[in-house]
Amino acid sequence: MQFFLDTGSLEEIRTAQAWGILDGVTTNPSLVSKEGMDHKALIREIASITSGPISVETTSERAEEMVAQGREYVTWAPNAIVKVPATAEGIKAASIMGKEGIRINVTLVFSPNQALLAAKVGAYFVSPFVGRLDDISEDGMQVVRDTVQIYRNFGFRTKVLAASLRHPIHVVEAAKAGADIATIPFKVMEQLFKHPLTDTGQERFLADWRKLQAELERKKTKV
Ligand code: E4P
Repeated sequence: MQFFLDTGSLEEIRTAQAWGILDGVTTNPSLVSKEGMDHKALIREIASITSGPISVETTSERAEEMVAQGREYVTWAPNAIVKVPATAEGIKAASIMGKEGIRINVTLVFSPNQALLAAKVGAYFVSPFVGRLDDISEDGMQVVRDTVQIYRNFGFRTKVLAASLRHPIHVVEAAKAGADIATIPFKVMEQLFKHPLTDTGQERFLADWRKLQAELERKKTKV
């Protein structure tokens, strides 16, 4: 399973890259706007840190404008993946750009039918949003499970990118569902490392090790 970071923060991306577990980055207009930086400059900076796929979202409701933006985004970085919404205009834009060899991430996917439409136009990624469905008392992960099953049934090559993940159990569930990728907020990625027994176990190992070193030192000075 690949791990993408769901962020526009260069500091977070640098940290995850140094951990050695970063396979790519997803951005969206809300995440980019938090950084207060020019869009192109930000994406270029991200591309200087990771060679993995970087999802860059279009900001129009009209297919023609999405296509124009997408064509520009791929000149910013060779690893840019153009994000379009799962609307009729977004799917139309995906279909046009797909024929030009531009890789597409169909985002804001909340149903298996939207995921099916994304696959039919040859999207590179499909992004079912888990947390936002959970927020309205639906089982968000079910869309991931259904999408994985439907794609397997027909041999669709679109990769399932589980998005809007809000806590570590979402990552486990997405992995169990067979999602190809989890895009994870930085705070959740940090939580993946955490287990209280790891902390206490490590503390005890190091304390015992220090005790042994002190004992050996004492023996050495006695001789
Ligand atoms: C995915 O590409 C989106 O950027 C993201 O996962 C949305 O997450 P949210 O619902 O927590 O905003």
